[in-house]
Amino acid sequence: MVIDWLLILLNLVFIVLFIRQIVIAIVALWTGYLSDVSFHKTNQRILAKLLDRLNLNSQSLVYELGCGEGSVAIKFVKKFNCQVFAIDKNLTLILVAKIRAWLAGTSHQITFKRADLFKIDVSRADLVYIYMLPEINKILAKKFSAEMKTKAILVSWKFPLLDKNFKEIDRVGHKNQFFVYQRV
Ligand SMILES: C[S@@+](CC[C@H](N)C(=O)[O-])C[C@H]1O[C@@H](n2cnc3c(N)ncnc32)[C@H](O)[C@@H]1O
Repeated sequence: MVIDWLLILLNLVFIVLFIRQIVIAIVALWTGYLSDVSFHKTNQRILAKLLDRLNLNSQSLVYELGCGEGSVAIKFVKKFNCQVFAIDKNLTLILVAKIRAWLAGTSHQITFKRADLFKIDVSRADLVYIYMLPEINKILAKKFSAEMKTKAILVSWKFPLLDKNFKEIDRVGHKNQFFVYQRV
């Protein structure tokens, strides 16, 4: 009798683990399929150093293109009490980001939206934050040149964004770095 119950329990555990694996696989496929760059998190220790060196305030408007699960956006709000407009193509990540922002007490200052970064107008941004790949940065350089206002700041984690309209004003980190530019 006890053995029967143990076997039923064991079967249930296997079924739950199997369903869990299927859900993880679907979410992973969905993330990779939908986005131009898959989700990787910015190094949070170096992000803290970057934030120490930025000159923003509560009036600043930050755009994060490809915000993932919201860590960067939340850190900007906590540091500067600013407004953040954060978008990602992946709905699951946007939902997770919304929950995280709510738990962190920052949801009234961050607008998370599911959108394609190539369709977002960044002309109002005081700072644009990206963590993309070199080939995407090349395309974005043209977009940012056309849209970003003079003196606005552009921060790119890991990969530079080379364009004559952007002057490099800082680098933060060693092996992996933040490239900080100003629109001239
Ligand atoms: C490398 S992760 C960076 C996440 C976050 N910004 C960070 O630094 O921790 C890139 C993010 O961009 C999103 N992404 C990729 N292509 C996109 C697109 N065309 N439009 C909007 N988001 C996109 C991915 O879903 C992913 O969450």
